[in-house]
Order: sequence, then C-alpha cells, then structure tokens
Amino acid sequence: MSRRITGFTPSGELHLGNYFGAIKPLVDEQIPDRSIIFVSDLHALTLDHDPAAVRRRTLEFAAVLLAAGADPARSIFLVQSHVPEHTELHYLLESVTGYGEARRMIQFKEKSKDSDRVRVSLLTYPVLMAADILLYHAGEVPVGADQRQHVELARDIAERFNAAYGPVFTVPRMVNPPVAARIMDLARPAVKMSKSTSPAGTLRLLDSPDTLRHKVMRAATDPGSAVEYDPGNRPGIANLLTILSACTGEDPADAAARSGGYADLKRTVADAVIATTDPIRHRYADLGRDPEAVRKILQDGVIRARLIAGNTVAAAKRAIGLLPA
Ligand code: ADP
Ligand code: TRP
Repeated sequence: MSRRITGFTPSGELHLGNYFGAIKPLVDEQIPDRSIIFVSDLHALTLDHDPAAVRRRTLEFAAVLLAAGADPARSIFLVQSHVPEHTELHYLLESVTGYGEARRMIQFKEKSKDSDRVRVSLLTYPVLMAADILLYHAGEVPVGADQRQHVELARDIAERFNAAYGPVFTVPRMVNPPVAARIMDLARPAVKMSKSTSPAGTLRLLDSPDTLRHKVMRAATDPGSAVEYDPGNRPGIANLLTILSACTGEDPADAAARSGGYADLKRTVADAVIATTDPIRHRYADLGRDPEAVRKILQDGVIRARLIAGNTVAAAKRAIGLLPA
C-alpha cells in the first residue's frame, strides 16, 4: 500500500479551506508508517518573510495540526527543515526539471507578477515540493485544487527520472476531497479562501466562535433570495452550502432544499462551522500549555522520516551517477 503525504506552509494562519482541502483527508485515514504530515517551513522563505514569525508559526502550525487530528502514533509528523534529505533531493530533482517548466507554474506567475525582487526559491519551490513527495514514495497527495499543477509536476519529474536513470520513485497522484477542494473567500466568493486574503472572508481554525459567527453572518450573498446550489450563478450561496456540506456530510443540494432563507442558512452554517472547529480549539489550548510535548513529537518524527528519506536519497544519488562516499 502506498503512502499519503501533505504539507502546510507556515505563513498566515490555518483556515477552514486548509482543513477540508488537505488536513481532514489526511487525518481521517491515518495508517502507521503510511501517513506523513509536515510543516513546510522552507516554503515560507520563498516570499518576503519575517524570521521570528516563521519560527513562531512553525511551532503554532505543528500544534494546530495535532489539534486538528494529526496522530503521531499513526502518522509521521515533522518539520521539513529538520530533515535535510528534503533539500538534498531537491537539488537532484532540479537537475531533471526544465527552467521553462518551472516558469510556467501558475502560482509562480501570480506570486511573481507584482514583485521586482523575485526569489529564485519561488521559482524552484514546486521542485522542492516534488522532493517532499518523492522522498517518501508517496502515491497519494491530498491537497486542495490550487496545488494540482504542482502535484502534476512531481509526477512528471518522477516519470522522467525513472525513465532516464532507473525506477527510483513512486509516481504520485493528487487526491481531491469529496467536497470543498476549493472553498471560496466569504467576503469575495470569486477568490479562494486563503491565508493571505481578507481576514473578513477567511474562517481561521483558531478564530473564536463569536468571530466565526460574525464572519459567516456577514458573508457576501447573491442577488435574489432563493437558496439554491448553483456555483456558476450563485457563488456566494453555493460556497456557504459547500462549507455546510463539508461540515455535516450532507449533499449541498439537499442542504439547500432544507434552508428557509439566507439568514436561516447562515445561522446553520455558523453553527456547523463552530461545532466542527470547537474540538480543534480546545485541543490547541491544551497543547499550548505544553510546547515541549509538541517539540518531542517533532523530534520523534525526524527520526522516523530519515529512515525512509535517507534510503531514497541514497538510491537517487546512485542512479543519477554520483560516486558513493
Ligand atoms: P493558502 O492558500 O491559504 O496559503 P496553502 O497554499 O498553504 O494555503 O495550502 C495548504 C493546503 O490547503 C493545500 O493543500 C491547499 O491546496 C489547501 N487549500 C488552501 N486553500 C484552500 C481552499 N480555499 N479550499 C480548499 N483547500 C485549500
Ligand atoms: N505547497 C503546498 C502549499 O503551499 C504545501 C506543500 C509543500 C505540500 N510540500 C508539499 C503539500 C508536499 C503536499 C505535498 O500549500
């Protein structure tokens, strides 16, 4: 059985889109030695960053992911920069990736367009992501829709390397959540909910219940008053129904049929979001009292990760033509 892996970059704060797009699909099916969840701290260095904030958020993200269900007894749980094999494999994979390929990535184009000082690491970030995945022979990568192109690049790199130098890597595929692969911003339903967009439109996992309710009640809706699941024509209402459906498991169209009107729907969504995130906030508060316990879990993760990662890097080095030490 192949492994599953997913990672979270410690910029901004984790939100409901991250939870339904990637955290839940991984933590719902954790299998010992087969599930890997990590904080991709190196990815936080690809844009302007504040060193102290990255350090603080790395520990905070680890605690939120544990609170959200990452179980170190069943998953390998780690911080990317603690496992040097990630960057070691990154370099080897850069040598099988084209410059044009990297430059074509949509996220690179978007994030570099307004900056006159683009970091080289922003260009090569998807190659590091490929290394994250290929290092552990992960066959399945649960991520939100925005990461599709990056997982496809990891696939292309694995296939190219295997064809040129021998079968070292498992070829990965993206796993989409059943609903909520792309939760939209509540205030601006045309853009995806994201760590870096408007605080008003982003439901953060650590927001208080009052804040969550306030944001949902103020969510942008669509002209008219009918509650229908129609993402093309009624994106605001469709997004609320998607969130409700992700929280309760109910089909969005069925949830629409049961709703009285916009205000009624928003109350139901707020209740569901609070019920879903309450246990996370409580567990996070408990973990916050014991940061040493979180650090201990991360240390343990490094040891387990390196057992797998070390073998992969050794095999890749041998295959690509490097002389063993
Ligand atoms: P952000 O875009 O908020 O900075 P990341 O890019 O760090 O978040 O994403 C972490 C994971 O969460 C990725 O797998 C990503 O696809 C997923 N994700 C991010 N935003 C959403 C969203 N709005 N809906 C569904 N999944 C999402
Ligand atoms: N690039 C992802 C993001 O920004 C995070 C990430 C890094 C990741 N490495 C990964 C996700 C490997 C899945 C697998 O959201």
